[in-house]
Amino acid sequence: MIKWQQSLSVGIDMIDDEHKELFNRVNDVFDACMKQQGQDKVYEILGFLREYTVKHFGDEEKLLEKYKYPELPQHKKLHEKFINDIQEIENDVKKNGVSVSIVTTLNRKLVDWLINHISKVDKKYGEYIKAHPLN
Ligand code: FEO
Repeated sequence: MIKWQQSLSVGIDMIDDEHKELFNRVNDVFDACMKQQGQDKVYEILGFLREYTVKHFGDEEKLLEKYKYPELPQHKKLHEKFINDIQEIENDVKKNGVSVSIVTTLNRKLVDWLINHISKVDKKYGEYIKAHPLN
C-alpha cells in the first residue's frame, strides 16, 4: 500500500482530491493482486485512467498556466509520456489479453507515477505555488 499523505499536498484541494483518488484506485489494484484477482482489475483501471488522465492533467495544466509555472512545458511532456505508456499497455491488452506480465508492467508504471511524479514532480509545483501566491 502506498498512501497519500498530507506532506504531498500541493495546496489546492481539487488537485489533492484527484491525487487521493488515484492513490485509492492504485491501492485497489494492489489489493486485488494480493488476492490473485489482479487480472480482473486491469480493464477497470485502464478505463479509469483514460478519463482520469484527461481530467486531471487538464486541471493541473490549467492551474500551472494560471500560476505561470516556469517548468510547465517539461511537466506537460511527463503527462504526455504517461498517457502514451498507458496507451501502449492498453494496446497490448487489446492484442494479447491480460497476462501476469501486463499486470506487473502496469503496476510498476503506476507505482513509479505515484512515487516519482506525484510525490516529487507535482510536489515541486506545489512548493512553487505556495511561494508565489496569486494577487
Ligand atoms: Fe498530478 Fe502532474 O500529475
